[in-house]
Amino acid sequence: MKNREIIELANEGKVPSREQLIQLLSTFTEEDREYAASLARAKSKETFGNAVYTRGLIEFSNYCKNNCLYCGIRAGNKEAQRYRLNKEEILDCCEQGYKMGYRTFVMQGGEDPFFTDEMFVDIVSTIRKLYPDCAITLSLGERSRESYQKLFDAGANRYLLRHESISPCHYAMLHPSSMSWERRMQCLRDLKEIGFQTGCGCMVGSPGQTVENLADELLFYKEFNPQMVGMGPFLPHHATPFKDEKAGSVEMSLMMLSMTRLLLPKVLLPSTTALGTAEQGGRNRGILAGANVIMPNLSPLKQRSKYLLYDNKTGLGEDASEQLVLIEELLNSIGYHSVVARGDYQGVN
Ligand code: 5AD
Repeated sequence: MKNREIIELANEGKVPSREQLIQLLSTFTEEDREYAASLARAKSKETFGNAVYTRGLIEFSNYCKNNCLYCGIRAGNKEAQRYRLNKEEILDCCEQGYKMGYRTFVMQGGEDPFFTDEMFVDIVSTIRKLYPDCAITLSLGERSRESYQKLFDAGANRYLLRHESISPCHYAMLHPSSMSWERRMQCLRDLKEIGFQTGCGCMVGSPGQTVENLADELLFYKEFNPQMVGMGPFLPHHATPFKDEKAGSVEMSLMMLSMTRLLLPKVLLPSTTALGTAEQGGRNRGILAGANVIMPNLSPLKQRSKYLLYDNKTGLGEDASEQLVLIEELLNSIGYHSVVARGDYQGVN
């Protein structure tokens, strides 16, 4: 079967076979990629029109107990200058963000043991009380089911936890042996069962990843049916064991975004900061490939340059409102605009 026909299968709501996906991902041409992007873009427009949802990202702590081999804020990186925001600083970010039109706040941080369940519950319930019309997304890593339940009950709506790889063997190449693929996948199931709009995902082009792995990612998304999928290219960080590894390809990242959009028409799909870092204009290319979410940074400028998962991260210089203006200009230049809306998942769970 021709690559175009495989793309069309997905566009018609059918699931290509593993072999077909492997063929597509290992042989696609620029023309195939453009074709997938145009269908994915049209699919995205059916649900979202030309509107892009914005999420205000609050990177509240770069302390992390984990030692993931790819990540710049891994525990073993002694160069990293560590910081954490207190409750007031987090609420300041929300206040600023709300004024600018954000209706989703994303609290993302390393797995920082300083924050107990009680502290997170206190922060989440305060945001819930102050901003009843906003969605609260958490990205706090692996926690117990009980902890997830408490956070949900406190008013959090969504949870992002990339599984990083659908292959246990590849997962083990990216993480120390103290981390478990099974536990990570159990977290995702717990989150979904509790009722969070749940986001999974992976880096594209991380060391050791194969096209077979990427094909399996797409099949997993189809089966798990997450409300969100986070995917961006792997980018090396100079103070990690992967410092000399090659960055993931922008073209492959775009193809993965388009195929994800075709397989999951309603999924909330961010065009990531990593994509914007890998290539100037990368985030626009993500939108044109079927993504419908952008997550600008609301973290205080003073701390922002310390939350470095990879080198050369974009968006460190402008304050939150300057950033929003730039993003709006970029979106407008390709015929899109941002909206003031919570932007909840609109599909069937
Ligand atoms: N390059 C790209 N993405 C990275 N992440 C962590 N380190 C890197 C890197 N070096 C991603 C992981 C994580 C998310 C918050 O950021 O997939 O889940």
